[in-house]
Amino acid sequence: MDFNHKSIMVAEVLNSLNIKSDGIYLDCTLGGGGHALAIGKKLSAQGKIIGIDQDEDAIKAATENLSGLACDVKIIRGNFSKLNEILDDLDVDKIDGALFDLGVSSYQIDTPERGFSYMKDSPLDMRMDRRRSLTAREVINNYEEDRLIKIFREYGEERFSKRIAAAICRERKISPIETTGELVKIIESNAPHTKNGGHPAKRIFQAIRIEVNGELEILSDAIKNAVARLKIGGRLAVITFHSLEDRIVKETLKTLAQGCICPKNFPVCVCNHKAAIKILGKAITPAQIEIKSNSRAKSAKLRVADKIFDINSEEE
Ligand SMILES: C[S@@+](CC[C@H](N)C(=O)[O-])C[C@H]1O[C@@H](n2cnc3c(N)ncnc32)[C@H](O)[C@@H]1O
Repeated sequence: MDFNHKSIMVAEVLNSLNIKSDGIYLDCTLGGGGHALAIGKKLSAQGKIIGIDQDEDAIKAATENLSGLACDVKIIRGNFSKLNEILDDLDVDKIDGALFDLGVSSYQIDTPERGFSYMKDSPLDMRMDRRRSLTAREVINNYEEDRLIKIFREYGEERFSKRIAAAICRERKISPIETTGELVKIIESNAPHTKNGGHPAKRIFQAIRIEVNGELEILSDAIKNAVARLKIGGRLAVITFHSLEDRIVKETLKTLAQGCICPKNFPVCVCNHKAAIKILGKAITPAQIEIKSNSRAKSAKLRVADKIFDINSEEE
């Protein structure tokens, strides 16, 4: 299997995670293991890297890619929404760092039969985890029109959501919509290309992908769970690729970084609420040279936080 994916901001991720050679690092979105390999190379035989991915192909590629590392490597096929159970099963309590590199890999997009790309004609699928039953075909052919409109608006931020959903519902009455190519034709005839907005199918495909994989609803809790697992001084690094996921990450970090939550007019703090993390600087974006060599890097943002307080152990 040729697993092509260029990892984003590798040096920045390594720097943000402040790697300790005997530390335990959790890569929640292992992919082909590009970031994990870079982290693993900095670890000694006492160090450990735990990689999670829900995609079978990613697991295969990463297993091969990480096989030569000196540190302990644990690769788990699963969803990062279950990271607590995964760490418990591995008998791992606290970790030194966690990384989320969200979304899909270039391999997934570029493999036609996965159905992620609007530029390749293939069956409507878009599942990262092919054990799950909900596919893009199901969404497009069986969801009510109003639900389609909502998904296109919320997850695709598409202005012509109503028109596109209506056209899909008209077409599927004639015969089921089976391929990405058929869907792209419907989208193209109902939404104009805009100079800055790019191809309208891009936004609709993003929306369907988010729905099929339930990408947004698990994100905030997963980040909170990862932070709860960090040791004091441990680091969290999250790479996002579009404004919807970035907004969730930013808000979640803001909540975790909040200290006292007493009403403003209280003279003294009675809540005893403490910030769990300190947000380290603003979002980091890739250097121009990386964007030039990897167009996927263009929209990437890396947000980093340092764990400063553990509510469970009351240590500071
Ligand atoms: C951008 S790629 C990661 C690439 C990786 N960092 C590298 O350098 O090779 C994102 C990966 O996360 C996986 N993924 C996305 N959401 C996930 C989730 N909720 N649980 C587990 N894996 C997920 C995808 O299957 C994909 O392989």
